[in-house]
Amino acid sequence: MTGTDRSEPNSANDEIEAESPKPERLQKIMARVGIGSRRVSEGYIEEGRVFVNGKVATLGDRVTESDEIAFDGALISTMPDSVTYLLNKPVGVVTTASDPQGRRVVVDLVPDDPRVFPVGRLDMDTEGLLLLTNDGQLAHRLTHPSFGVEKEYLAHVDGDPSRAALRRLREGVELDDGPTHPAKASRVSAGVVKLTIHEGRNRQVRRMLEVVGHPVLRLARTRIGPIADPQLRPGASRKLVQSELIDLQKAVLETDSNS
Ligand code: URA
Repeated sequence: MTGTDRSEPNSANDEIEAESPKPERLQKIMARVGIGSRRVSEGYIEEGRVFVNGKVATLGDRVTESDEIAFDGALISTMPDSVTYLLNKPVGVVTTASDPQGRRVVVDLVPDDPRVFPVGRLDMDTEGLLLLTNDGQLAHRLTHPSFGVEKEYLAHVDGDPSRAALRRLREGVELDDGPTHPAKASRVSAGVVKLTIHEGRNRQVRRMLEVVGHPVLRLARTRIGPIADPQLRPGASRKLVQSELIDLQKAVLETDSNS
């Protein structure tokens, strides 16, 4: 207790205290963000699967949104209005929040409140899965080169890649901005290649396939880490559920510890 008169109206201290979030029981916050009911969350705490600010949590812990909560090693977003959408971006839509040339942009395809922004980018002529979020920490972890979550693409190409071409893609090819890391590459059918990469360089898949003699005719991203949704129509979007967010955070961790 300081010497400040606590009843004094309009004191700066009172304003700060009024704005700080009230600590709540850990299991209540876990239930709110969808990890499991309060009872189930208590079980997770007792099993030692929950950490608060890097320390194993105990029943009775109280937390606020500014505390860092991890479940099974995956950071949990506790922002009350945090939202992440999975969009199936159609060809012709620009991956940005606004376009000075007035072209259709990805944020036009998801609800506008709360405002979200795209995580990474797909070329205007690429279709497929794109995440949009208002969770800056998640976006950072998904796009930062040191994490590099796996991304899978389906490419329709000119010609039919030989085994040697696929091997070159797997081993890494020389691009003008340096060699690519080893990738997974397989032939799905004549002229159709599945390519899985960790990096996110500009037009990387198109350039890799060009270098091995098979320019891309059509390109779609079909998976981001553990997230795929073959039922999602082009132009449609949906919110990720908490279990998908946890899987995504785990994929970030796995990549980080493997690197
Ligand atoms: N690689 C590409 O060439 N284009 C994309 O949009 C994404 C990855």
